[in-house]
Amino acid sequence: MEVVVVPTPEDAAPIVADAYSKLLAAKPKAVLGLATGSTPLGVYAELIRRHKEEGLSFAGCSSYNLDEYVGLPAGHPEGYLTFIKREFTDQVDFDPDDVHGPDGLADDLMKAASDYDQAIKDAGGIDIQILGIGGDGHLAFNMPMSSLSSRTRLKTLTSKTRSDNARFFDGDVEAVPKMCLTQGLGTIMEARHAIMLGFGKNKAQAVAECVEGALSSRWPASILQLHPHATVVVDEDAASQLRFTGYYIDTFKGKPDWQGI
Ligand code: PGA
Repeated sequence: MEVVVVPTPEDAAPIVADAYSKLLAAKPKAVLGLATGSTPLGVYAELIRRHKEEGLSFAGCSSYNLDEYVGLPAGHPEGYLTFIKREFTDQVDFDPDDVHGPDGLADDLMKAASDYDQAIKDAGGIDIQILGIGGDGHLAFNMPMSSLSSRTRLKTLTSKTRSDNARFFDGDVEAVPKMCLTQGLGTIMEARHAIMLGFGKNKAQAVAECVEGALSSRWPASILQLHPHATVVVDEDAASQLRFTGYYIDTFKGKPDWQGI
């Protein structure tokens, strides 16, 4: 696991966007795993800028969201497929038909979940999966004690996650759905490159537990310790409880320019 510590979230965006630029140069029909929430917005903004100013193209790409609320009406502004189109894919040259998310309105949610895993496999698997981290260490909507080998499935959100997300629902926690479909930890681990971002003091404990603590379903993002190509990009606040920060900074500074993350 590579840990990159940057002064501010703004400093993370070009480093992560470089990984996309490199991927798309080598593989224009890349498969991107996309995350919602506030954390990845700076990276999406940088990718949109590169599209508009530098011609970075997503025309041949397909994307798969990490998760979706169950039961939000189609087109609800906080539905995650709507969110990702608004915040990212509609602002670049992504074909809207190639932007996917789990179907939280399916009659048969279990089938929708296993179909989603299969669709990712059929697309050839995810090249870069971008991830945020929850304050309790959750990854996608894999809450603490999620199976470390879980597949896409139905999950119940913790009350903490619902209250954290109430800010997207005018502060009304009751408006936040109670259930979701989420890629499992086993699904996420199949992505060829996992990039997890964490910003702010409220992520510091989760980052420390998941990066330097024991592998445990209590801290679901700790599963990334087993990933052959995982990059964790954190700002100084989110890094504030890490113990090996000096080593991470030296290592990143010492990398050859061509290597990237
Ligand atoms: P956030 O959420 O990006 O809005 O902080 C991350 C998460 O809960 O996974």
